Amino acid sequence: MSGHGPAIPMSSRRATPLNGEAHVPGDKSVSHRSLILGALSVGETRITGLLEGQDVLDTAKAMRAFGAEVIEHGNGEYSVHGVGVGGFAEPEDVIDCGNAGTGVRLIMGAMATTPITATFTGDGSLRKRPMGRITDPLALFGAQSYGRSGGRLPMTIVGAKDPVPVRYTLPVASAQVKSAVLLAGLNAMGETVVIEPEATRDHTERMLRGFGAELGVEETDEGRVITLTGQPELTPQSIVVPRDPSSAAFPVCAALITEGSDITVPNIGLNPTRAGLFTTLQEMSADLTFENMREEGGEPVADLRARFSPDMKGIEVDPARAASMIDEYPILSVVASFAEGRTMMAGVHELRVKECDRIDVMAKGLRANGVTVDEGEDWWAVEGFGPGGMPGGGHAATHLDHRIAMSFLIAGMAAKKPVSVDDASPFLTSFPIFEDLMRDLGANFSRDNT
Ligand code: S3P
Repeated sequence: MSGHGPAIPMSSRRATPLNGEAHVPGDKSVSHRSLILGALSVGETRITGLLEGQDVLDTAKAMRAFGAEVIEHGNGEYSVHGVGVGGFAEPEDVIDCGNAGTGVRLIMGAMATTPITATFTGDGSLRKRPMGRITDPLALFGAQSYGRSGGRLPMTIVGAKDPVPVRYTLPVASAQVKSAVLLAGLNAMGETVVIEPEATRDHTERMLRGFGAELGVEETDEGRVITLTGQPELTPQSIVVPRDPSSAAFPVCAALITEGSDITVPNIGLNPTRAGLFTTLQEMSADLTFENMREEGGEPVADLRARFSPDMKGIEVDPARAASMIDEYPILSVVASFAEGRTMMAGVHELRVKECDRIDVMAKGLRANGVTVDEGEDWWAVEGFGPGGMPGGGHAATHLDHRIAMSFLIAGMAAKKPVSVDDASPFLTSFPIFEDLMRDLGANFSRDNT
C-alpha cells in the first residue's frame, strides 16, 4: 500500500528505442518551499508549475490547516494567501504529511517559534524516519517535542512562546535540517546562524532572499555560514517552479541504457547543489549533453539530451558530491549495472534514512535481478555487466519509496528479462505522470493483477 491508495504491482519489459521529449513536472523541493513561504508572507503569492504530487499536495493541505488560503487554478497554477511570519493558527486536527520527509520537517520548523501546538504524522515510511535531527535544534529556540521512541512520528510540537535565535552547526549534511532551522529563525528576534560543513541544496536561502528576508552567506573554514535576521515581513512573490532534475534523472538514465535511444528533457533546473548526477554520468562516459544553457529566475536551466551509451564505465563517485545527488543514487546504481566494471559509491550514510534504507533495498532488488552488490555502513559498490547485460527476471520490493519503484521499472527497460515491483504507486508522491511519460517515450510497462 502506498499509504494513499491501493498498491500497484507492475512489470517492466525490454523497451523499444526511446525517442521524443520528456516534460517532467516541477521541482519537489521548490514546490514545498513555495507553499510554505507563501503561507508565511502577507498577501498573495502566485505559483506556476507547482508539482502536483502527493507530497506537495499534503503540504498544501497542511498550510490550509495552519490558516493560509491555498487556491488551485488548474494546470499547476496556485495562489497562496499567507498569514505572515508568526501568524500560523493552531491546527484543529493532526497534520498528516503522508510520505514527505521534506514536508513534515520544514513545516515543523516553520511552526516551532509560534506559540501553538501541532501534532504530525505520516505514512508507514515517514513514521520510521528520524525527527530528532529536527527537534534537537528546534529545542534551542524553546520549542518542545513529544514523539514516539527514537524521535519518531506521530509527534507533537509545542511552539516556543518567546523564541530565542540560535547558532547551529549541522551534524548531518541535510537541507531539510538547515531549512527547518532557518524557517524557525524567521520568528525569532535577532540573528539565527546555521553553519553547514558540507554544502546542501540552497533553495531555502535563495527563496528567503526572494521573499525579502535579510540573509547572508559566507564561505569560511568551518563551511557555509548562513545568517538570517529574524522577524522580517515577507513579501509575496510570483514563482515559476523549475522542472525537477531528480525526476529528469529517470528518463535520462532510461535513455542511456536502452539501445537506440535519443531523447530530450527540456527546461531542467541545474542548480549546482542538485546536479551531481549529471556530472557523474558524464564521468562514466554517458552521452549526455546540456543544450540551450540559460538562466531563469536566477537558476541555471538547460535542455538535457541523452542518447544510448554503450561505452559507459564504472567509476569511483566523488564522495564530496554526495549531497548534490543524494536522491539519485538508486537510479545511478541501475545505470552502473549497465556500465563496464565496478561503480563505487562512498560517503552515503544518509541513504540509510531516506524513505527507506535505500542501500539495503536497492542492493536486495539488484541482487534479485542478478547484479553483484557489495555494501558497508556508508558505501556500496555495483559490478556492471556492460550494455544490455543485467540478467533481470527478478522481483523488487519498493517499501513505499518512489525512487526505488521508478529505478527498478527503468532497470526492466534494458534488462534481459522483465523486472517486477510489488508496488509502483509511490511514484505518485513525486512524479505523478511517470508511467504515462515513460510509456510515451517507449517503455513497456504492464500493471500486474494482484
Ligand atoms: C530535500 C532534501 C534532501 C532530499 C529530499 C529533499 C529538500 O533530504 O533527500 O528529497 O527539499 O530539502 P535531506 O535534507 O535529509 O538530505
